[in-house]
Amino acid sequence: MLNIILIGAPGSGKGTAAGLFKVEWGMVHLSTGDLLRSEIKKGSELGRFAASFLESGRLLPDEVMMQIMAERIRQPDARQCGVLYDGFPRTLAQAEAFDRMLAEHRQRVDGALMLDVAEEVILSRLTARRVCQGCGAVYNAIDRRPRQEGVCDQCGGAVVQRPDDTQETVRRRIATYEHDTLPVIEHYGRQGVLLKVNPGRELSTVVPAIRAWAQGLLDRRE
Ligand code: AP5
Ligand code: MG
Repeated sequence: MLNIILIGAPGSGKGTAAGLFKVEWGMVHLSTGDLLRSEIKKGSELGRFAASFLESGRLLPDEVMMQIMAERIRQPDARQCGVLYDGFPRTLAQAEAFDRMLAEHRQRVDGALMLDVAEEVILSRLTARRVCQGCGAVYNAIDRRPRQEGVCDQCGGAVVQRPDDTQETVRRRIATYEHDTLPVIEHYGRQGVLLKVNPGRELSTVVPAIRAWAQGLLDRRE
Protein backbone atom coordinates (compact mmCIF):
# COMPACT_ATOMS: atom_id res chain seq x y z
CA MET A 1 0.00 0.00 0.00
CA LEU A 2 1.47 3.31 -1.12
CA ASN A 3 0.87 6.90 -0.04
CA ILE A 4 1.54 9.22 -2.96
CA ILE A 5 1.17 12.98 -2.84
CA LEU A 6 0.37 15.13 -5.86
CA ILE A 7 1.77 18.64 -5.61
CA GLY A 8 1.40 21.48 -8.07
CA ALA A 9 0.05 24.96 -8.58
CA PRO A 10 -3.68 25.44 -9.09
CA GLY A 11 -4.49 24.11 -12.54
CA SER A 12 -1.27 22.12 -12.89
CA GLY A 13 -3.34 18.98 -13.52
CA LYS A 14 -3.39 17.23 -10.13
CA GLY A 15 -7.04 16.17 -10.48
CA THR A 16 -6.52 15.12 -14.11
CA ALA A 17 -3.45 13.01 -13.26
CA ALA A 18 -5.19 11.46 -10.23
CA GLY A 19 -8.17 10.53 -12.44
CA LEU A 20 -5.81 8.55 -14.67
CA PHE A 21 -3.54 6.91 -12.10
CA LYS A 22 -6.17 5.99 -9.48
CA VAL A 23 -7.66 3.54 -11.98
CA GLU A 24 -4.30 2.26 -13.20
CA TRP A 25 -2.85 1.82 -9.71
CA GLY A 26 -6.10 0.82 -7.93
CA MET A 27 -5.73 3.66 -5.44
CA VAL A 28 -8.16 5.92 -3.60
CA HIS A 29 -8.09 9.53 -4.89
CA LEU A 30 -8.36 11.93 -1.98
CA SER A 31 -8.69 15.55 -3.08
CA THR A 32 -9.06 17.94 -0.15
CA GLY A 33 -10.55 20.56 -2.50
CA ASP A 34 -13.24 18.09 -3.71
CA LEU A 35 -13.90 17.02 -0.12
CA LEU A 36 -14.44 20.64 0.98
CA ARG A 37 -16.60 21.46 -2.06
CA SER A 38 -18.83 18.47 -1.25
CA GLU A 39 -19.23 19.73 2.36
CA ILE A 40 -20.16 23.18 1.01
CA LYS A 41 -22.75 21.57 -1.27
CA LYS A 42 -24.23 19.61 1.67
CA GLY A 43 -24.39 22.80 3.75
CA SER A 44 -22.65 21.08 6.70
CA GLU A 45 -21.00 23.02 9.53
CA LEU A 46 -17.58 22.37 7.97
CA GLY A 47 -18.94 23.48 4.57
CA ARG A 48 -20.24 26.74 6.01
CA PHE A 49 -16.86 27.37 7.65
CA ALA A 50 -14.88 26.48 4.49
CA ALA A 51 -16.94 28.44 1.93
CA SER A 52 -15.30 31.85 2.35
CA PHE A 53 -11.78 30.35 2.23
CA LEU A 54 -12.43 28.57 -1.07
CA GLU A 55 -14.22 31.54 -2.60
CA SER A 56 -11.29 33.86 -1.88
CA GLY A 57 -8.51 31.31 -2.63
CA ARG A 58 -7.11 31.28 0.92
CA LEU A 59 -6.10 28.09 2.76
CA LEU A 60 -8.11 26.71 5.65
CA PRO A 61 -6.24 26.73 9.00
CA ASP A 62 -3.77 23.84 9.38
CA GLU A 63 -5.46 22.49 12.55
CA VAL A 64 -8.81 22.20 10.77
CA MET A 65 -7.26 20.42 7.78
CA MET A 66 -5.34 18.00 10.01
CA GLN A 67 -8.50 17.11 11.91
CA ILE A 68 -10.33 16.41 8.66
CA MET A 69 -7.49 14.24 7.35
CA ALA A 70 -7.05 12.33 10.62
CA GLU A 71 -10.69 11.30 10.32
CA ARG A 72 -10.54 10.62 6.59
CA ILE A 73 -7.53 8.28 6.67
CA ARG A 74 -9.24 6.16 9.31
CA GLN A 75 -12.00 5.22 6.78
CA PRO A 76 -11.82 1.63 5.48
CA ASP A 77 -11.05 2.53 1.83
CA ALA A 78 -7.98 4.55 2.86
CA ARG A 79 -6.76 1.65 5.01
CA GLN A 80 -7.22 -1.02 2.35
CA CYS A 81 -5.92 0.65 -0.83
CA GLY A 82 -3.08 3.04 -1.43
CA VAL A 83 -3.99 6.72 -1.39
CA LEU A 84 -3.29 9.48 -3.91
CA TYR A 85 -3.40 12.73 -1.94
CA ASP A 86 -4.34 15.66 -4.18
CA GLY A 87 -3.97 19.13 -2.64
CA PHE A 88 -2.70 17.91 0.72
CA PRO A 89 -0.35 18.61 2.50
CA ARG A 90 -0.16 22.21 1.34
CA THR A 91 1.91 23.88 4.06
CA LEU A 92 5.10 22.79 5.81
CA ALA A 93 3.16 22.48 9.09
CA GLN A 94 0.66 20.12 7.39
CA ALA A 95 3.50 18.06 5.88
CA GLU A 96 5.27 17.65 9.21
CA ALA A 97 2.04 16.81 11.06
CA PHE A 98 1.13 14.35 8.28
CA ASP A 99 4.49 12.57 8.60
CA ARG A 100 3.79 12.12 12.33
CA MET A 101 0.22 10.97 11.67
CA LEU A 102 1.32 8.34 9.15
CA ALA A 103 4.11 7.15 11.44
CA GLU A 104 1.45 6.36 14.08
CA HIS A 105 -0.09 3.99 11.50
CA ARG A 106 3.39 2.61 10.65
CA GLN A 107 3.23 4.32 7.26
CA ARG A 108 4.99 7.13 5.48
CA VAL A 109 4.84 9.25 2.33
CA ASP A 110 6.29 6.91 -0.29
CA GLY A 111 6.37 9.40 -3.16
CA ALA A 112 5.62 13.04 -3.94
CA LEU A 113 4.88 13.88 -7.57
CA MET A 114 5.24 17.54 -8.52
CA LEU A 115 3.56 18.83 -11.68
CA ASP A 116 5.67 21.82 -12.66
CA VAL A 117 3.65 24.05 -15.01
CA ALA A 118 4.31 27.69 -16.02
CA GLU A 119 2.02 30.41 -14.65
CA GLU A 120 0.73 31.63 -18.04
CA VAL A 121 -0.35 28.06 -18.91
CA ILE A 122 -2.19 27.81 -15.59
CA LEU A 123 -4.14 31.03 -16.07
CA SER A 124 -5.43 30.02 -19.49
CA ARG A 125 -6.27 26.48 -18.34
CA LEU A 126 -8.24 27.47 -15.28
CA THR A 127 -10.51 29.95 -16.98
CA ALA A 128 -11.36 27.17 -19.49
CA ARG A 129 -11.82 24.40 -16.91
CA ARG A 130 -15.20 22.77 -16.32
CA VAL A 131 -15.90 20.18 -13.60
CA CYS A 132 -18.65 17.67 -12.89
CA GLN A 133 -20.63 18.56 -9.77
CA GLY A 134 -21.46 14.89 -9.30
CA CYS A 135 -18.21 12.88 -9.59
CA GLY A 136 -15.59 15.65 -9.91
CA ALA A 137 -14.45 14.60 -13.43
CA VAL A 138 -12.38 17.37 -15.05
CA TYR A 139 -13.06 18.81 -18.53
CA ASN A 140 -12.09 21.97 -20.34
CA ALA A 141 -13.98 24.18 -22.72
CA ILE A 142 -11.28 23.96 -25.43
CA ASP A 143 -10.24 20.39 -26.16
CA ARG A 144 -11.75 18.15 -23.46
CA ARG A 145 -15.48 18.83 -23.60
CA PRO A 146 -18.10 16.33 -22.46
CA ARG A 147 -19.87 14.54 -25.35
CA GLN A 148 -23.10 16.33 -24.47
CA GLU A 149 -22.69 20.01 -23.52
CA GLY A 150 -22.97 20.47 -19.72
CA VAL A 151 -23.48 16.74 -18.97
CA CYS A 152 -20.78 14.49 -17.47
CA ASP A 153 -19.74 11.51 -19.67
CA GLN A 154 -19.08 9.40 -16.58
CA CYS A 155 -22.04 10.01 -14.25
CA GLY A 156 -24.51 12.28 -16.08
CA GLY A 157 -23.97 15.07 -13.47
CA ALA A 158 -23.93 18.79 -14.31
CA VAL A 159 -20.64 20.07 -15.75
CA VAL A 160 -20.01 23.63 -14.56
CA GLN A 161 -17.30 26.26 -13.99
CA ARG A 162 -15.77 26.38 -10.48
CA PRO A 163 -16.54 29.68 -8.68
CA ASP A 164 -12.85 30.12 -7.73
CA ASP A 165 -11.70 29.95 -11.38
CA THR A 166 -11.93 33.72 -11.94
CA GLN A 167 -8.74 35.61 -12.92
CA GLU A 168 -8.52 37.46 -9.59
CA THR A 169 -9.00 34.38 -7.39
CA VAL A 170 -6.64 32.29 -9.52
CA ARG A 171 -3.91 34.90 -9.00
CA ARG A 172 -4.51 34.76 -5.24
CA ARG A 173 -4.34 30.94 -5.31
CA ILE A 174 -1.04 31.03 -7.23
CA ALA A 175 0.44 33.49 -4.69
CA THR A 176 -0.73 31.25 -1.82
CA TYR A 177 0.85 28.26 -3.54
CA GLU A 178 4.19 30.01 -3.98
CA HIS A 179 4.27 31.25 -0.40
CA ASP A 180 2.89 28.21 1.47
CA THR A 181 3.37 25.15 -0.72
CA LEU A 182 6.85 25.54 -2.26
CA PRO A 183 8.41 24.68 1.16
CA VAL A 184 6.43 21.39 1.07
CA ILE A 185 8.21 20.46 -2.18
CA GLU A 186 11.59 21.15 -0.56
CA HIS A 187 10.51 19.02 2.42
CA TYR A 188 9.88 15.95 0.24
CA GLY A 189 13.00 16.70 -1.80
CA ARG A 190 15.02 16.41 1.41
CA GLN A 191 13.33 13.06 2.13
CA GLY A 192 14.41 11.80 -1.33
CA VAL A 193 10.88 10.87 -2.46
CA LEU A 194 10.22 13.70 -4.95
CA LEU A 195 9.69 13.39 -8.70
CA LYS A 196 9.27 16.65 -10.68
CA VAL A 197 7.70 16.49 -14.14
CA ASN A 198 6.59 19.15 -16.61
CA PRO A 199 3.43 17.92 -18.35
CA GLY A 200 3.50 20.79 -20.87
CA ARG A 201 0.53 20.59 -23.20
CA GLU A 202 -0.19 16.90 -22.75
CA LEU A 203 -0.04 14.72 -19.66
CA SER A 204 0.69 11.69 -21.88
CA THR A 205 4.24 12.99 -22.52
CA VAL A 206 5.22 12.41 -18.89
CA VAL A 207 3.15 9.28 -18.20
CA PRO A 208 6.01 6.79 -18.94
CA ALA A 209 8.34 8.58 -16.49
CA ILE A 210 5.62 8.59 -13.80
CA ARG A 211 4.86 4.91 -14.35
CA ALA A 212 8.53 3.93 -14.02
CA TRP A 213 8.87 6.01 -10.85
CA ALA A 214 5.73 4.46 -9.29
CA GLN A 215 6.97 0.97 -10.14
CA GLY A 216 10.23 1.79 -8.35
CA LEU A 217 8.24 2.86 -5.27
CA LEU A 218 6.27 -0.38 -5.30
CA ASP A 219 9.43 -2.49 -5.69
CA ARG A 220 10.99 -0.68 -2.76
CA ARG A 221 7.86 -1.28 -0.65
CA GLU A 222 7.77 -5.05 -1.27
P1 AP5 B 1 -8.11 22.51 -4.84
O1 AP5 B 1 -9.41 22.03 -5.29
O2 AP5 B 1 -7.06 21.55 -4.44
O3 AP5 B 1 -7.57 23.53 -5.95
P2 AP5 B 1 -6.11 23.81 -6.53
O4 AP5 B 1 -4.92 23.30 -5.82
O5 AP5 B 1 -6.14 25.27 -6.74
O6 AP5 B 1 -6.01 22.95 -7.80
P3 AP5 B 1 -7.09 22.79 -8.90
O7 AP5 B 1 -8.08 21.75 -8.50
O8 AP5 B 1 -7.61 24.14 -9.30
O9 AP5 B 1 -6.21 22.30 -10.15
P4 AP5 B 1 -5.66 20.85 -10.52
O10 AP5 B 1 -4.17 20.85 -10.32
O11 AP5 B 1 -6.44 19.76 -9.87
O12 AP5 B 1 -5.88 20.86 -12.10
P5 AP5 B 1 -6.95 20.07 -13.01
O13 AP5 B 1 -6.58 18.64 -13.14
O14 AP5 B 1 -8.34 20.41 -12.58
O15 AP5 B 1 -8.31 23.49 -3.59
C1 AP5 B 1 -9.32 24.49 -3.60
C2 AP5 B 1 -9.32 25.24 -2.28
O16 AP5 B 1 -9.58 24.35 -1.17
C3 AP5 B 1 -8.02 25.94 -1.89
O17 AP5 B 1 -7.90 27.19 -2.53
C4 AP5 B 1 -8.21 26.05 -0.35
O18 AP5 B 1 -9.09 27.10 -0.04
C5 AP5 B 1 -8.88 24.74 0.01
N1 AP5 B 1 -7.93 23.67 0.38
C6 AP5 B 1 -7.74 22.49 -0.32
N2 AP5 B 1 -6.78 21.74 0.26
C7 AP5 B 1 -6.35 22.44 1.36
C8 AP5 B 1 -5.34 22.19 2.34
N3 AP5 B 1 -4.59 21.08 2.34
N4 AP5 B 1 -5.15 23.13 3.30
C9 AP5 B 1 -5.89 24.25 3.34
N5 AP5 B 1 -6.86 24.56 2.42
C10 AP5 B 1 -7.08 23.66 1.44
O19 AP5 B 1 -6.62 20.74 -14.45
C11 AP5 B 1 -6.93 22.10 -14.70
C12 AP5 B 1 -7.36 22.28 -16.17
O20 AP5 B 1 -6.26 22.02 -17.03
C13 AP5 B 1 -8.47 21.32 -16.61
O21 AP5 B 1 -9.36 22.01 -17.45
C14 AP5 B 1 -7.74 20.21 -17.35
O22 AP5 B 1 -8.56 19.63 -18.37
C15 AP5 B 1 -6.55 20.96 -17.94
N6 AP5 B 1 -5.34 20.13 -17.99
C16 AP5 B 1 -4.82 19.39 -16.97
N7 AP5 B 1 -3.67 18.79 -17.35
C17 AP5 B 1 -3.44 19.21 -18.64
C18 AP5 B 1 -2.38 18.97 -19.58
N8 AP5 B 1 -1.31 18.22 -19.30
N9 AP5 B 1 -2.47 19.57 -20.80
C19 AP5 B 1 -3.54 20.34 -21.11
N10 AP5 B 1 -4.56 20.61 -20.28
C20 AP5 B 1 -4.52 20.05 -19.05
MG1 MG C 1 -8.09 19.69 -8.48
